[in-house]
Amino acid sequence: MSVVPSTRKRVTTRRLGDMKRAGMPIACLTAYDAISASILDASGVDVLLVGDSVGNVVQGHDTTIPVTLEHMIYHTQAVVRSVSQALVVTDMPFMSYQVSPQEAFRNAGRLMKEAGSGAVKLEGGMRVTESVRLMTENGIPVMGHLGLTPQSIHQFGSYRERGSTPEEAEIMKRDALALQEAGAFALVLEKIPSGLAKDITALLHIPTIGIGAGPDCDGQILVWTDMMGMSTEFRPRFVRRYAELHSIMVDAASRYVSDVKNHAFPTTEESY
Ligand code: KIV
Repeated sequence: MSVVPSTRKRVTTRRLGDMKRAGMPIACLTAYDAISASILDASGVDVLLVGDSVGNVVQGHDTTIPVTLEHMIYHTQAVVRSVSQALVVTDMPFMSYQVSPQEAFRNAGRLMKEAGSGAVKLEGGMRVTESVRLMTENGIPVMGHLGLTPQSIHQFGSYRERGSTPEEAEIMKRDALALQEAGAFALVLEKIPSGLAKDITALLHIPTIGIGAGPDCDGQILVWTDMMGMSTEFRPRFVRRYAELHSIMVDAASRYVSDVKNHAFPTTEESY
């Protein structure tokens, strides 16, 4: 196992741009709480995204729609307290940025000021560029998100890949350029054809971060509980499972239950 020196500098948005130019892949994961964030930060990961996938992973919802700005502030505060090296980026939840650029700006400001995030992420292309510009011109770094944007699931009607028709692909390229032009420092590309992700990556000077978007993005992101194998049902082909924590944790909990029931825990040594 490689040990990442603790002297590693805090990752900045500027550093991510340098990494793209140097051809150094950017590794990103999600995080929602202090203990997991501190473990993931120790891995050398470049970005920890407090994703609104917290709605699925932590809150047990089917979609990210019910997640509120207050939830995102709460989870970001927990992550920020225990991360010293990765750049922390926070998702703007559904309806925190759609009403008007001014409201989006105010809410992004709360994520930076009250939660301590290093940047915000929002979904969409041309329709959000005015908000992105307002934020970036006032010191709030923004990560864009195109492709399968989960907050639009009720409009899409399914979690199928996006950008697979020539029309959708052209719109996505136009959206990517518009986000870059509005000042976004990076762009998540979710569940789109590898060829399209490669084209968009070549088109932009800001880094692309793929999830189900093939090997040619400048970086990759996965939901941390998926790549650690914590769920039994969710197994899309873009998730590589680096551990099987579900079975390890069920086994550990079962042994604990058995010890309690058999009066084998606690022992005298484990008591005061
Ligand atoms: O909310 C999230 O976890 C995300 C990533 C999957 C990119 O947006």
